[in-house]
Amino acid sequence: MKNKNFWFGKRVLVTGADGFVAAHLIKKLIDNDAVVIATARHKRPLKTLDLLREGKVANQPDMEYCDLLDYEEIRRVCDRHQIDTIFHLAATAIVSAAADAPMSTIENNVMGTLNVLEVARINNMPRVLIASSDKSYGDHTTDKYEKLPYKENYALRGLDVYSSSKVCSDMIAQTYAFQFKLPVMICRSSNIYGPGDMNFTRLIPRTIMRLMSDGPPVINTGNENVLREYIYVEDVVDAYMLMAEQAESYYGTDHKNIPRSGVDTYGWPAFNVGSYTKNDLIDINKCLSIKSVDSLIKILREKVRDIEPNIIPKPSNFIEIPDQYIDASKLFDLGFKPKVSFEEGIEKTTTWYKKNFSKLEPLAAKYLE
Ligand SMILES: NC(=O)c1ccc[n+]([C@@H]2O[C@H](COP(=O)([O-])OP(=O)(O)OC[C@H]3O[C@@H](n4cnc5c(N)ncnc54)[C@H](O)[C@@H]3O)[C@@H](O)[C@H]2O)c1
Repeated sequence: MKNKNFWFGKRVLVTGADGFVAAHLIKKLIDNDAVVIATARHKRPLKTLDLLREGKVANQPDMEYCDLLDYEEIRRVCDRHQIDTIFHLAATAIVSAAADAPMSTIENNVMGTLNVLEVARINNMPRVLIASSDKSYGDHTTDKYEKLPYKENYALRGLDVYSSSKVCSDMIAQTYAFQFKLPVMICRSSNIYGPGDMNFTRLIPRTIMRLMSDGPPVINTGNENVLREYIYVEDVVDAYMLMAEQAESYYGTDHKNIPRSGVDTYGWPAFNVGSYTKNDLIDINKCLSIKSVDSLIKILREKVRDIEPNIIPKPSNFIEIPDQYIDASKLFDLGFKPKVSFEEGIEKTTTWYKKNFSKLEPLAAKYLE
């Protein structure tokens, strides 16, 4: 059972504050009376958090503008604000951008995570949450033993730059859990969608924005039928907060619950963040948040504008992982239950983009040609 007062007065650092998921998380943490300190690299003219709040007056997070690659600066920020909880979300989070910039992506995602974990270790923080991804699991489609849906104890087989950067940071986070007994919770979430995502290379924001501007959606050749699982951003925020709330009890008094060796250690600090348990996934046709690219675009065409998609060639450096969906039973056992159905989530999302179209159009211009 979630403790309603858990967040009151907690001193929480959220990294990547100008990002999509972080904006929702900050909003909810502030609504739950946490003291939120947020890091961002840049001051953006259009802030996701302000767009989500629709002009309503509310508390703002205490902003620290810094680069997570600067270890000393992160340490100073945590000391200055007496941080007791970290949600580490900052990352180069776009698969295609990562493929175009392997060195900076790996440096950013791996060293940024290491810096955060090291500061948490030195300060004995009672809870640290690391945003990882189901992309870390990579290709399991023909695996004889570790079949879909992904489970937390599966091998991490990311093949592209983004995925392997997440595999590495995920592994380092596990190391900090096992070797230093730092209560780290690793969230391997499926594709997150909802209002406020200004990453216009992603399927849902890009398709809605293209349809809104009377253009055809685009599909990469051969990707029409790959399956992806989607989860609404507010459900992800609930999962993150629940995991942070449960970190101390999951690790146990004096960390007695940490397994010491063998299979029990595989993926122990990690949780899949998705909408289904293994029983639900017996019939994936009933799991409405698992969609092919083609069927998702059809839904968006019905909601926004009915324009036939263009099939375009894949960039040569593009690796499309085959079907991906996750078994989130472990998270459900912790007390999680998603609240937003796919139908409702997509309705809220398209409504938001329609409402904010004129503000978003200049930012998305490059992706609308
Ligand atoms: N959105 C998804 O579908 C999804 C799915 C699984 C996991 N994740 C993970 O969740 C996290 C948040 O994703 P998002 O969708 O909100 O991405 P996002 O791109 O909207 O946000 C990431 C933010 O991190 C910031 N950042 C990057 N490097 C930084 C650095 N060195 N110092 C300071 N700030 C830095 C960026 O400026 C950006 O604002 C990421 O770690 C991502 O890998 C996202």
